[in-house]
Order: sequence, then structure tokens, then C-alpha cells
Amino acid sequence: MCGIVGYIGNRDAFPILIKGLQRLEYRGYDSAGVAMISPEGNLNVYKKKGKVSDLLDSCKDKDKSGNIGIGHTRWATHGEPNDVNSHPHYSQTKDLVIIHNGIIENYASIKEGLQKRGHTFLSETDTEVLIHLIEDIRKHEPEMKLGHAVMAALNQVNGAYAIVILDKNDRDTLIAAKKGSPMVIGVGKDEYFIASDASPIVEYTKNVVYIEDEHVAIIRRGEELKIRTIRDKEITPYVQELEMELEAIEKGGYDHFMLKEIYEQPRSIFDSMRGRLNSETGHLKMGGIEEHEGKFKNAKRIIVIACGTSWHAGMVAEYLFEEYARIPVEVEYASEFRYRNPIIYPDDIVIAISQSGETADTLAAIELAKTKGATIFGVCNVVGSSIARATHAGSYTHAGPEIGVASTKAFTAQVTVLTLMALHVAKVKGAIAESRYRQLLYEMESIPAKVEEVLKLNDSIKKIAAEYKDAANALYLGRGYSFPVALEGALKLKEISYIHAEGYPAAEMKHGPIALIDEAMPVFVIATKGPNYEKVVSNIQEVKARKGRIIAIVTAGDVEVKKMAEHVIEIPETDESLVPLVSVIPWQLLSYHIAVMRGCNVDQPRNLAKSVTVE
Ligand code: G6P
Repeated sequence: MCGIVGYIGNRDAFPILIKGLQRLEYRGYDSAGVAMISPEGNLNVYKKKGKVSDLLDSCKDKDKSGNIGIGHTRWATHGEPNDVNSHPHYSQTKDLVIIHNGIIENYASIKEGLQKRGHTFLSETDTEVLIHLIEDIRKHEPEMKLGHAVMAALNQVNGAYAIVILDKNDRDTLIAAKKGSPMVIGVGKDEYFIASDASPIVEYTKNVVYIEDEHVAIIRRGEELKIRTIRDKEITPYVQELEMELEAIEKGGYDHFMLKEIYEQPRSIFDSMRGRLNSETGHLKMGGIEEHEGKFKNAKRIIVIACGTSWHAGMVAEYLFEEYARIPVEVEYASEFRYRNPIIYPDDIVIAISQSGETADTLAAIELAKTKGATIFGVCNVVGSSIARATHAGSYTHAGPEIGVASTKAFTAQVTVLTLMALHVAKVKGAIAESRYRQLLYEMESIPAKVEEVLKLNDSIKKIAAEYKDAANALYLGRGYSFPVALEGALKLKEISYIHAEGYPAAEMKHGPIALIDEAMPVFVIATKGPNYEKVVSNIQEVKARKGRIIAIVTAGDVEVKKMAEHVIEIPETDESLVPLVSVIPWQLLSYHIAVMRGCNVDQPRNLAKSVTVE
């Protein structure tokens, strides 16, 4: 969470910082701030509660000159979101300023020590403590360079950080460091860009250096980039070429990133299969799995760890691996798993699913599983992300950048990759009949076109949204493969429209949620043709008997549910196990339209962030 940016070069820093912060706003938007050193040597700091646009308004008439600067967009952890707690934060003398993404866990004890030495603090943040500590170290050793003072301070802190520091008395240097929070440096001609991810950098340069944990970058105007560990060992920067296009991070004519990303799904699902699936030859190529084929073949158990929407994709994986490959699967919330002293065997396979590849709980759960000797396989979207690097092997989802905070195309790409993985393992194990395997490969190839068909239903889904936009509660039901989609549908609605929604296995409804059903309650059901169809129809009848209002996703041509439901959304027929890839689309569109109609900020829902790098 939190986005950080920095610039040093010959251009005006302010517009670059602002544009960068707007690109990173998905990471947090409780407050925003910038600091620049003007040509006259003034350190100008502007910060404001709210969005980057609020910051822009508040510093309209101020001096924003300077070709060195830092910026921050915050997702509050320590201290409420207000102007004072916003970053950048000053040191005691106000000569240094810092921006920080992460948490300094032992800040309270450090603060106490500093207070005893006369330091006074303006904010409630852990970040302010760190910059005071750095200055304090320098005060006692005036000859020490800022970079070394930063290293010394970082050796005293526990926790996670991506920081950038600016010194009022040195217009030619930025010091950056990271541990546990992401940081990338763009290397231009006589200029450097720093950011939490590459999106603020891509339009200026494609040469980037991903900073490793406990590394400190000393970025000096007109000089080569220098990197040292926090123990002062020199590191040679590894410059790599960015594989990201500017268009991928722009709205491209859509009103919101979320809508653009929903519409990108035929393409992103295709991209996640590209080069991996050949239905003609019956060949599936999953590099990561091939490397560890024996482990997968002999695995007695798969443990899936993930959070949020990725956890829902993991739920689908449970059904897939159990059905196709006959391997028992446990799906775990990373945040619970890591603190439970879980039983993990060396022959377990752990699949960690994460769009961002940065989720702190997932990362910590991976580290825990590693200590027990399990093989860790990553399913990540962001190339080169921390989770992708922490795993033994993995398969990228190749969905392209996902900017909307509510995950859409990342989910379908994750499910696609997990389906291919399950099929591949099933084939290797000989657990699936050749004919079924081949049929499923063909069917997978037809999914992008089927998703395209569903997207054509947008107008009718919008009408349904208009009818239910004022609901106070909603229930999402599904059975089998559709149960995780019910969970995902409910999550989409609550996170962007703030309507309370619950996802439930349809049959389990009678053990509780049925008490909530009355004529005001919309019940969103997936009732596609398949082994559970008749059972779901019975569940629909139970809702009808209590005057609940049914909105059902059905297989094209369905007649039975149509008779009972207020609305049906007909989706193309596919194999039962692949239905989630198609049936989730109407629930995504429905949430999107309801949120827009309720005047909610679809791409940046309140209190949420795209990348949760705190536990
Ligand atoms: C946040 C995001 C969700 C996401 C979850 C897990 O809560 O808002 O969209 O599903 O984190 O993130 P990950 O990047 O690990 O998939």
C-alpha cells in the first residue's frame, strides 16, 4: 500500500511526480504529498488529506519549481488520514524529508529513545520516527554521508519499507531503500525516476532496475546509479528492459479502469493461454510445472494460499485439482495460515496466488511454507514481483496491468492458468481420460469467444443494476464450481458499491441466510446446466417461497428458471468446470453499474487498496 515516486534530472519534477502519483493512486488514496527543492534552495513540502487532485488544488498558487523531488500517496496505517500524518515527513531540523511505504514495527521504542534525546514529533506516524533517527545518527557523526546514515538507521529497524529521502542541503542526491515493499528505478538519460511500480516510469524510459530487499540506492545527478546493501556492500545494478506499454495503463476511452479491464477479458484470458495450450496436438506447456513434474505427480496434497479475489480463484482451483488430478486441496487465507502453526509436509505443493505479487500476508505464508520444505509455486500477474521471486517456480497470468482496485481480469486469468495447471498435472498423473482431457482443451480455447458473448449483455445487465441499485443487502448463491463465483460476486458488489452482500453455497442458505429473505432482498443465483442444476432450482424455489427476488445466470435456452426468476442472464454453454470463467462476468458488470449509479468511486473504493503490503 502507499505509492511512492521520486525524480532527479533536468525536467520540472512536480508534473512528473503528480502524474506518477495518479498512476499509483490505486495503492492508496487517503492523502497525498510532494516535496521539491527549488532552484533557490528552498525545500517546499505540500501535503493534503484526500486524493492527488485535492493536493493539486491545495498547492495551486505555491512555488512548485525544482528538478528534484519526491511524492507519496497514502493508505493509512499509523495515524488517521489527515494533513499532518500525510507524507513527506520532516526530520527534527526540517532539513530532511522522507516518503515511506510499509511499516516500521519497532518505531515506538525508537521514538521513545529519540524523545529522550530531545526530538519532538508532529505526526503519529512510524515514518517520521525513521527520518528523525537518520538525522540523529548524522548529528552524532557529522562527517557521515546521508546514504551511510540511512544504512545505519535501517540496521536498527524491523518491518517493511520503501523509502526515498531528500536533503534540503543537497540538490543533487536522492537516497532510496527498500525491504518488503516494492521499488523500481527508471534509468533515463541524465535522469532517474523512482516508483513503487513501473507505471509512472514507462512513458519516460524502459530501462529499469528493480531494487532488492535491504538495498540502498544512492542516486546522484549526472552520475551512475550506485547500490549498496544496508551493510555497505557494493552491488552492481542490474538494468533490465521493461515489458510494459503505456496504453496498458491508460483508460483507452472507457470511463473507468474497471470497465476497461472487464472488457479486456477475452484478450487477457487468451493471453494467459497463449503459447501454453495447443488443442490440435493435445499439448499443454507449463514451464514451471515441467520443472517440478515429479513433485506434482507425487504430491499427496496441494495447499493454496491467497487473499481476497485471488483466494476465490484458489477456491475454484480446489474443485479443478480434485476433479481432474485427484489431488486433495486445502485453500487457506494467507493471513490465517501464517499464524496457525500449520502442518506442512516436505512433499506438499503450495500454490500461492496473487495478482500484485506483493501481498504481505501471502508473502509471509510462502516464507513459512518454505521453512517446512514444501515446494512453492506462484501464480502472479506482476512480472518480477516479490512473490514471483520468492517462489520455487510459477506461471505468470499475463493479464496485463490491472489498475481498478476491484480485481476482474486478474481473476479470470488466474482461473485460466489454474485450469491449465490442473489439466497438465492430471495428464502427467494419468488421472484424466484422454478424451475428456482433449475435450477440455478445446473448450478452453472457446472461452474467450464465450466471454465476448456475455459482454454483449451489458445493456440488459445495466437495466437489472438500475432496479437493484438501492438494495441494502444482497445474497449470492451457487453450488459446486459456482460457489466461489458467488463469493466473488458478493465481494465485487460490497467493495465498490458498499451494499452489504454475502456469498453462500446455495444449499447452505437454509442454515441461516434464509432468515434474511423478504421481498426487498435480491438473490443472485448461478443456475447453469450441470449436475447441480435441479438442486439449485430447488434452492431458488425456497427463496421464491419467501418472496425473495431472483436474478439468475442460466445456460442459454433455459426455460425452467426463467419461469421463477425476476431476471435471467443467459450465458453460453460450457463444461461445468469452466463455467466460472464465463459466469463471473455478469456479476462484475452488475457491480460496476450499481456502483456507478450510486455515485461511488469505482476504481478507488473507500478504505481499500490494490496492493496490500501490510499485514
Ligand atoms: C486487495 C485487493 C484485492 C485483491 C487482494 C489480494 O484486497 O483490493 O483486489 O484480491 O488484495 O491481492 P493479490 O495482489 O495478492 O491478488
